[in-house]
Amino acid sequence: MVVEQTNFDLYWHHSQIRRADRERLNGHRGITLWFTGLPSSGKSTLAAALETVLYERKCRTYILDGDNIRQGLNRDLGFSPADRMENIRRIGEVANLLRDSGIINLVAFISPYRSDRKTARDLSKGDGSFIEIFVDCPVEICETRDPKQLYKKARAGVLKEFTGISAPYEPPENPEIHLHTDVDSISQCVDKIIAYLEGNYYIK
Ligand code: ADX
Repeated sequence: MVVEQTNFDLYWHHSQIRRADRERLNGHRGITLWFTGLPSSGKSTLAAALETVLYERKCRTYILDGDNIRQGLNRDLGFSPADRMENIRRIGEVANLLRDSGIINLVAFISPYRSDRKTARDLSKGDGSFIEIFVDCPVEICETRDPKQLYKKARAGVLKEFTGISAPYEPPENPEIHLHTDVDSISQCVDKIIAYLEGNYYIK
């Protein structure tokens, strides 16, 4: 049985090196690029392509990808609304730590619920370091891509609670960046994100 203890005596330990010091060393801000969208909308592909461009520009980056994180840190979680909430809560915390470390973290999770994305965003306390990127693509197009054949399994009823088919996806209302992967190529989408980051002085 897990006993929830609420009276721990905990203290926040500050280090001498602060986030601003790490950002100065890196030459860019510590930010989260939060990709959200349907399965097969292009989140992971875009994050990987963008990371390559950022790396070539000498930025320090790290990708947190749903498929990968669910094989380790979040291997105990499934796809019920409660488990997805916990999935995003944990990753929101990890992203917050990576921002504090001065790294540009690229988070590629379906993250279907607005309230869970808000929980992750709120950790940034409105300092502009949380950039939500809506990877928009009609479900019919995502379904024709289906590289992992998951839509097929969901249609056959083998895969339950599948986002876009038998589980909801709540699109962002005010994302910082709105991409259309059914219209633009991956490199056009990457260019748009880079233009946003340059235009808002996140990177040089
Ligand atoms: S999230 O909804 O909790 O944010 P997450 O991004 O971590 O999802 O994981 C999505 C990945 O899990 C998909 O890329 C897919 O490979 C796999 N997956 C397995 N079952 C499901 C399901 N029922 N719904 C969505 N994705 C699923």
